[in-house]
Amino acid sequence: MTHRFWYGAATAGHQVEGNNTNSDIWALEQMKYGGYPQKSGIAADHYHRYREDIDLMKQAGLNAYRFSLEWARIEPEKGKFDEKEVRHYRDVMEYCLKQEIEPVVTLFHFSSPKWLIEKGGWEAESTVEDFRSYTAYVCSAYHDLLHYVCTINEANLGVLIGIFIRQAMERKDNAVQIGLDIDQMAKQNEEKQAEELAVFGCVNPAVFPSPRSAGGNRIIMKAHQAAVRTIHELVPHAKAGITLSLRDIQHTESGKQRAEDAWEEEFRQFLPALEEDDFFGLQNYTRTVVDEHGELPPSEGAELTQMGYEYYPEGLEHVIRKVSEDWKKEILITENGIASDDDSRRIAFIDTALAGVHRCIEDGIDVGGYCYWSLMDNYEWQSGYDMRFGLMGIDRNTMERIVHESMYHLGRKAR
Ligand code: BGC
Repeated sequence: MTHRFWYGAATAGHQVEGNNTNSDIWALEQMKYGGYPQKSGIAADHYHRYREDIDLMKQAGLNAYRFSLEWARIEPEKGKFDEKEVRHYRDVMEYCLKQEIEPVVTLFHFSSPKWLIEKGGWEAESTVEDFRSYTAYVCSAYHDLLHYVCTINEANLGVLIGIFIRQAMERKDNAVQIGLDIDQMAKQNEEKQAEELAVFGCVNPAVFPSPRSAGGNRIIMKAHQAAVRTIHELVPHAKAGITLSLRDIQHTESGKQRAEDAWEEEFRQFLPALEEDDFFGLQNYTRTVVDEHGELPPSEGAELTQMGYEYYPEGLEHVIRKVSEDWKKEILITENGIASDDDSRRIAFIDTALAGVHRCIEDGIDVGGYCYWSLMDNYEWQSGYDMRFGLMGIDRNTMERIVHESMYHLGRKAR
């Protein structure tokens, strides 16, 4: 497809498809101490309704769809690939292309096969090879369909969770990005450990949404690099990249050093592992302001989103400019959005964010596209179905799609 600028929307398998029964998050949802108070169930039933959802994107005028493959569906048991599920994602990609919507495929978006966690998960060296072999399988299965491939979504999530836990312990807890319940995560007791042992065969299972050790970060980066090499080797025409969640870190007069350290921890430390990447997937939701002691709460009267963090669409432009100091290749905005029941705030958010993107492009920064999070209301992990990020709402009784004006608004920009 000829590429002008991608105006799209994003989802992730576990959050929209439903019945991801072989995954670790599904297992956690069934547990007493799993930390997921609501169950994903059939989610938005996107697994069965993807054609309708892609049709609605097409009607609105969007030209890109970022979605993820579920590793747990494709490889439900180590080394055993499920042909029906492999066929399913082929159908999704083919349907996108038929509707002239660019598929931006994410290999891994937070949920792992349960077997991977039983083997030590995202702290185990063997995960590098497991992820490489899954990537190789996917590349062979879809080599004619892959264009943009994101390896690991928000590879820095474990770092951010570590920061949020640190802050919560210092009683300075700021809003948490992806709806995680830090108090619950920090809670350790014997019953919890016994349950983990029974379900995963280990205590403190190293699922992706959990704090990461320095060693765990190295494993994730090695897995990413192995995947990029595999993609380049098996699908030479495809572009490969990672995605990171980046807050717009601002500082008071006294907070400069603290802000620089945070940017190093959240972004710059990963750069050496991205040298062979073709694009950078940038995800931004809000800003944070730090002084010499740490992060400050949003100022009084600041508008907050349902997630509890500040409504701050200007952050996207700031983060693009900061990233571009170190990153000279293509940047894709793989996520940006708000949870709100007031769609007019979503429209205003998109307008401000995109105006910033276009100023960056005018200044010569290579931004290739923008994917709003999310195409539809979905399962916001530990916050369940209470956060409404969607360009479309979902009637949870009938699964009917309720397209908001913001979706047409974004689509008109693409035209
Ligand atoms: C994640 C999504 C999540 C979104 C909104 C991102 O950090 O990639 O899975 O739903 O933020 O919190």
